[in-house]
Amino acid sequence: MRERYAVIGNPIEQSKSPFIHGEFARACGQQIEYDRILGPVGGFVASVDAFRAQGGLGMNVTAPFKLDACAYCTELSLDARLAGAVNAMKFEGKRVLGQNFDGVGLVRDLQVNLNMPLVGKRVLIVGAGGASRGALLPLLACAPAELVVVNRTLNKASELVDIARLHVPAQAQASQVQGVGYADLQDRAFDVVLHATSAGLSGQMPPLANSVFAPRALAYDLTYGKGLTPFLRLARDAGVSNLADGVGMLAEQAAEAFTWWRGVRPDTAQLIRQLTVPLT
Ligand code: ATR
Repeated sequence: MRERYAVIGNPIEQSKSPFIHGEFARACGQQIEYDRILGPVGGFVASVDAFRAQGGLGMNVTAPFKLDACAYCTELSLDARLAGAVNAMKFEGKRVLGQNFDGVGLVRDLQVNLNMPLVGKRVLIVGAGGASRGALLPLLACAPAELVVVNRTLNKASELVDIARLHVPAQAQASQVQGVGYADLQDRAFDVVLHATSAGLSGQMPPLANSVFAPRALAYDLTYGKGLTPFLRLARDAGVSNLADGVGMLAEQAAEAFTWWRGVRPDTAQLIRQLTVPLT
């Protein structure tokens, strides 16, 4: 019998995980089955218990269950703990290991796929919600010169900075980590600008001045598949030509989970080409 994995969420039809893991398995010669599970709201535990009882070995977790998954796991990685969200679980008997690979996926996409080494760079994260939280420590581990979190609600940005200072004090100091409001960005420029707010969902845009983009900056939107988002359009209109969305991050976080489960690292280049929606 094939070893079983699945993604759980509600809704779940939109999830690209079955396609992605199917492609990885084919390319790596791994005999796995990867299902899509619609978890009833309030029924996360029962659904996961049932999957494990049928021999399931691991799961990806998507909205709205990332917090439930945190509570379900018996052991959490530091990234999952700090993000307060789990997007991959591995079942080992009674043990349930939880990981959040979004941050490492983002960093790998930036540094490997997009050829943007972060060491010594000025990095701006726009937004201080769950996505920013998950990215914080993996970004810091790359030793940027500056890591600035800008947010509409200043104390949420400050909270993130406190987390960094608490968990990696030496790196947080070396990298000059700061939480700021939009008005504090005047006359400051960054080599990498990462957009991680949900403003686009309501057709809005955080108030970013053109001057935040340094010459040859990379503008990166953590969403994917939406073409030229309001943030990317703003960057393009500010003269930025190096634009990317989160398709590579999506592929890389999946590759991290696959490697964790199967012990084989899949190549992501072809998958990223397949999933890319042009930024027009
Ligand atoms: P996620 O988990 O997707 O990151 P979240 O935790 O709800 O979502 O966080 C959403 C982020 O988008 C927050 O940083 C939020 O700013 P506030 O903390 O000030 O609410 C940001 N955001 C949402 N709408 C925005 C808007 N119109 N302008 C600027 N920031 C916005």
